[in-house]
Amino acid sequence: MASRLSLKVVPDYEALSQEAFEKIKRFATLHPQAVYGLATGSTPERLYQLLRTYIKESGKLSLTQATSFNLDEYSKLDPKHPLSYHTFMWENLFFEAPFKSSHIPNGMAEDLVQECLNYDLLIKQSGGIKLQILGIGENGHIGFNEPSETWSEGTYVADLHPSTISANARFFGGDQSKVPTQAITMGIGSIMAAKQILIMASGANKAEAVRAALLGKHTPELPASCLQRHPNVTWLLDKEAASLIRD
Ligand code: F6R
Repeated sequence: MASRLSLKVVPDYEALSQEAFEKIKRFATLHPQAVYGLATGSTPERLYQLLRTYIKESGKLSLTQATSFNLDEYSKLDPKHPLSYHTFMWENLFFEAPFKSSHIPNGMAEDLVQECLNYDLLIKQSGGIKLQILGIGENGHIGFNEPSETWSEGTYVADLHPSTISANARFFGGDQSKVPTQAITMGIGSIMAAKQILIMASGANKAEAVRAALLGKHTPELPASCLQRHPNVTWLLDKEAASLIRD
């Protein structure tokens, strides 16, 4: 299969967000009924702000015929909790830019294994993800696919790596003991099934993960290295995140 890797380096986080916004605007205009895979976290915050503001103020774009699936959600955290990914998506995007239907795993489900199977089935029934938006963790994770000995497949319950708990403690007032230790996440197999992937990284703390994902070994120890084998990936980096792949 012909493969397409595109890599763009821009000066800073603002330029990165603008670039991603323009790409999604073009994509959404061409494919109003598309199915999106969405990420949470600091990286897409400005992108979502640009998107929701444009949708609300220009009247030129709408996602109301599109469908979204979020990558992940903490387990045992109420969807109404201020730090749940449900709350994040509602506040950052959905309240002003609603989709026809939006799906986020339910981390409070009584039977988490069944919840994962249902999530995969819903993605399948939607026709599959056309554009997957990703961030990358400092340890190279995507979704909550942490460094591991094997590649994951569909949606599953993941244990958060200690480095992820430490990185995400900033959202929980710096208190690591408040960070959930498990999450439901789409697996590497689900992510690789997306037709197109847009992965963004900003900041020097991501530089080593970006270098290893792009230029290192293809290994589940660096989950984002799976993208080396995806046929249509765009890496969007700011200068700092790209600092170890440049001369
Ligand atoms: C969030 C997710 C994570 C983040 C990653 C980077 O839905 O899937 O993999 O993309 O942890 O997080 P930030 O953007 O906060 O640096």
